[in-house]
Formats: sequence, C-alpha cells, structure tokens
Amino acid sequence: MRAMLFEVKDLHVAYGSYEVLRGVNLEVDRGEIVSIIGSNGAGKSTLFRTISGLIKPRSGRIIFEGEDIAGKSPEEIVSIGITHCPEGRFLFPELSVYKNLLLGYYTKRKDKKGFKERLEYVFEIFPVLKERINQRAGTMSGGEQQMLAIARALMPSPKLLLLDEPSLGLSPKLSWSVFEVLKEIKKDTAILVSEQNASLCLKVSDRTYVMELGEIRLSGKADEVLANPEVKRAYLGI
Ligand SMILES: Nc1ncnc2c1ncn2[C@@H]1O[C@H](COP(=O)(O)OP(=O)(O)OP(=O)(O)O)[C@@H](O)[C@H]1O
Ligand SMILES: [Mg+2]
Repeated sequence: MRAMLFEVKDLHVAYGSYEVLRGVNLEVDRGEIVSIIGSNGAGKSTLFRTISGLIKPRSGRIIFEGEDIAGKSPEEIVSIGITHCPEGRFLFPELSVYKNLLLGYYTKRKDKKGFKERLEYVFEIFPVLKERINQRAGTMSGGEQQMLAIARALMPSPKLLLLDEPSLGLSPKLSWSVFEVLKEIKKDTAILVSEQNASLCLKVSDRTYVMELGEIRLSGKADEVLANPEVKRAYLGI
C-alpha cells in the first residue's frame, strides 16, 4: 500500500511561551481537497507557515511521502513538492503577471522548457491570466490577484498546495469562482485550504477539520461536517 501523501502528527508550535498549536493531527491524500475551518486566531496560518518551513515546530512530525520534513528550509519544502499560497497573497504588485509567475518557478529556473509547459497549464486553469500577461499585478481586481497568487504557487508543479484563506476580501460570487477551480487543480495537486468562510469552501472540500484555539475539534467528510448543528451555529451563522 502506498503511504498517505501528507500527515501531521501531534504538532506543537509556540510563539515564545504562548502555545498556538497544541497537538494537531491531520492528513491529506492524493486527489483530495481538505479544508481547515476556524475563526480568527485559531492557528490556521501558523500551521501553514510551519509546514512550509517558515516556523520551526516545538515538537511533532510533518510527514510527506513517508519522510519527516519538519525543520527543513522553505526552499527545500518547495523542491520536494509543497507550495504555499499565503493569506494576503503577497504578489509583487509592480511586476507583470508573467514576472510573478516566473518568480513562482524560481526553484526550477534552469528548466526553460518546463517553465513554458507549466505556464500553459496555469493559463488553461485561469484563462484570464493569459489575457493579462503583461498587466502589473497590483492593478488587477482582487479576484484576479487571488487567481494569480494560486497560479504562482502552482508553477513548480507541487504535489500539495497550501492555500490560506483564498476568499479573503472577495465577494461570494468571486470566492465561488476561485473555489470551483480547485476541483480542476486537485486532479494533479492535492489541496489543504484554510477558511473562515466555511459554507462555500465546504461545498468543494472532500474532508474538513474544524480548528479552535490550536486544536482540531472535529473532522470528517465535508458534507457531514456541514450538517453538524454545532458547526452550523458557529461557522455558518444558521
Ligand atoms: N508572529 C507571531 N508572534 C506571536 N503571536 C503570533 C504570531 N503570529 C500569530 N500569533 C498568534 O497566534 C495565534 C494564531 O494565529 P494565526 O494567524 O495562526 O491564526 P489564523 O487561524 O490564521 O487566524 P485568521 O483566521 O485571523 O487568519 C493568534 O493568537 C495570533 O495572535
Ligand atoms: Mg490566518
């Protein structure tokens, strides 16, 4: 049997003496969209920053394709196949769509043919980016910028995409267009996505974890979590 693509085991992360993640366990398999829902300060971004090597965990394991990757550098994490589309996007606003995508490819920059192929792939997923290839990123709409941020993270052909709050600042309609695309992306790249706005995100998720104060409170198939009365009250406002 092939190992699970990605597993987090009993992960503890602290800022100084303040423990933000208190024993987190989760897994993502190939072909899945797995979401983490949780309100402000639950620890979602901290989890993603730890997985991508920006924060060192206090203890616990982060296992990717059977190997413990906790403590590796951010560049190594990208090279082995995990990329991070951060909350707030962090595009280069003065640079064109093309240059932003080129920078996303930096770990593989020697492979020019591979770059062209990958560019074609992200343009298929997000045709609007092809139309705007020379436009400066900072002059695009919020929805287009989110698409560019995702496309940039897809440039190095990751096996796992960490997508932090993609709907931030977007209307429900635009958010939905972003979530719908994830169904296409997951054919090649498994996705771990965090969201405060649970209802749209859960519609495209296969499985979901509910995080509160640095702990996983609840998990299951997305439709089961969506039907849970506690979740409805706390995260869906119904
Ligand atoms: N660099 C830091 N130094 C100290 N505390 C931090 C730091 N970054 C985050 N925290 C704290 O850690 C906790 C978790 O924050 P985190 O950003 O991971 O939550 P989140 O679930 O992503 O929240 P949001 O939905 O608002 O993005 C919060 O209490 C936050 O104040
Ligand atoms: Mg966050």
